[in-house]
Amino acid sequence: MSNYSPLKKLLLIAAVLCETQLLTACAEHIAQPVKAIPPQISAAPQNTAYAPGLGEFMAQISTRHHKLWYAGKAKNWQLADYELEEIHEGLDDLAKYHPTHDKVKGSIPDLMATYMKAPLAQTETAIKAKNAADFRTGYDNITAGCNSCHQANDFGFNVIQRPVSNPFANQSFKNTP
Ligand code: HEC
Repeated sequence: MSNYSPLKKLLLIAAVLCETQLLTACAEHIAQPVKAIPPQISAAPQNTAYAPGLGEFMAQISTRHHKLWYAGKAKNWQLADYELEEIHEGLDDLAKYHPTHDKVKGSIPDLMATYMKAPLAQTETAIKAKNAADFRTGYDNITAGCNSCHQANDFGFNVIQRPVSNPFANQSFKNTP
């Protein structure tokens, strides 16, 4: 190094220092454990299972309400029992997935108990007894329960009634035991 000018010597020393520094940094970098993946990236997706909206549940329940009438009218008690059970399940699921809703005042399970429980039980008894007159009364009371809840929640324009015609041409409602 004696041939080098003082400036060159300084530069060489600086370069060597810099190099070792870089290598150390590099070694440190390699030795570092792989950082854990942040939880928001690594975690399994949140529960994104699809639950139908309140209106979708209602449309489905309404279809069963419709079919229930034709099953009872034909004294097809087995089918009537089935449709009533489907209404029951639909209302229970609705209350489970939407215990509250911005369009509904109060708790939905409570409203179901207030408006639907008694007429559903009454209709079930009529079906089990195969009593056509009691079935009609029970059915009308279910319908009144649907409408009372609609009215109580500013959906009074949504009027449910006894069906006037049967659109389910691909399903037989005949009582064929
Ligand atoms: C908790 C009170 C409540 C009860 C009980 C209830 N509904 Fe509803 N219903 C609603 C509300 C609130 C809506 C509006 C939902 C929306 O648009 O998100 C609705 C909407 C509907 C709709 C409109 C859906 C559409 O797409 O046209 C139908 C049909 C319907 N209900 C039928 C029924 C029938 C049939 C019953 C009885 C078996 C019933 N509802 C009982 C509160 C109720």
